[in-house]
Amino acid sequence: MSTSTSWEAFEERIAAAASLSDIEAIDHELFGRKAGAMTEALKGLKDIPNEEKKAAAQELNMWKKKFGEMLDEKKSELGGGSSEGIDVTLELPQKQRGHHHLIPEFIRQIEEVFGRMGFDTAYGPEIETEDLNFNKLNIPDDHPARDGQDTFWIKGVKNTVLRTHTSPVQIRYMQEHKPPFRMICPGKVYRKDSDATHSPMFHQFEGLMIGKDITLANLKAVLVTSLRELIGRDVEFRFRTGYFPFVEPGMEMDMMWQGDLEDSREGKWLEMGGCGMVHPNVLRNVDIDPDEWQGFAFGFGVERPLMIKHQIPDLRSFYEGDLRFLRQF
Ligand code: PHE
Repeated sequence: MSTSTSWEAFEERIAAAASLSDIEAIDHELFGRKAGAMTEALKGLKDIPNEEKKAAAQELNMWKKKFGEMLDEKKSELGGGSSEGIDVTLELPQKQRGHHHLIPEFIRQIEEVFGRMGFDTAYGPEIETEDLNFNKLNIPDDHPARDGQDTFWIKGVKNTVLRTHTSPVQIRYMQEHKPPFRMICPGKVYRKDSDATHSPMFHQFEGLMIGKDITLANLKAVLVTSLRELIGRDVEFRFRTGYFPFVEPGMEMDMMWQGDLEDSREGKWLEMGGCGMVHPNVLRNVDIDPDEWQGFAFGFGVERPLMIKHQIPDLRSFYEGDLRFLRQF
């Protein structure tokens, strides 16, 4: 058992220590797990007669605490690693925080804007049957959209395609829900196409609203209100007639390139997508009575309104993964 004198000697040595290695050596002499003086003394307590044990323990704890504090203080004074040694004023480089790519972010906004207008969100598979992608949508066998030019057919699986539009999700939804309803379905679609405004994979969002007295006026109101909100400014747009086998009458909606896009596109129209009143044959195909129910459908690109919104001249920039482009949004 150590005497108090030897503890005082340790105390003096700590106070006099002039280097971190001296301090660490003393720390080890005192608290080393095997033969540390304090470690041993604490272990020895159990052999002390009961009457003296309490006082001895108190004294040892007093020293133990004192040494701990002195060692810490001395270590930080000599530049060691206690908490006091951290310079909290040091400026660290800012961590780069990631964010969503602008396409999924825009889709989230689309879901939110239409959600507020009471539209449900649905999703469908990207590998689709010919029946849902074409037939049920009143696209006859000999329609040009079906031939090898635009459509990716799945090799070795009969009557199966990469969906060419989000319209088959309309059919899936109508097969599972009873009208009235309103829904949108965003997602990826595929076509053999590639230039500044086309990509073999792109995104669409489809909308469908069926009720007893839904008209073209409702279609126009919903599209104009939602797109103005999504683009965030009062864009110029126009509707013109367009043919799609699954709507009658059918229209296309264009938006005008406006802003500081200093090229020949300024003031020209960019097609956003198609729309119209759901064709009675389509309703019949899903057992909805067209004499009782009617409504509108639209299918818009996701990239195109974003191009207008942010003045992005080339659609391929969305997919190149160039951080200088992506970090701007
Ligand atoms: N599915 C059509 C297309 O991809 C767009 C569309 C959807 C047109 C709904 C009318 C109604 O071109």
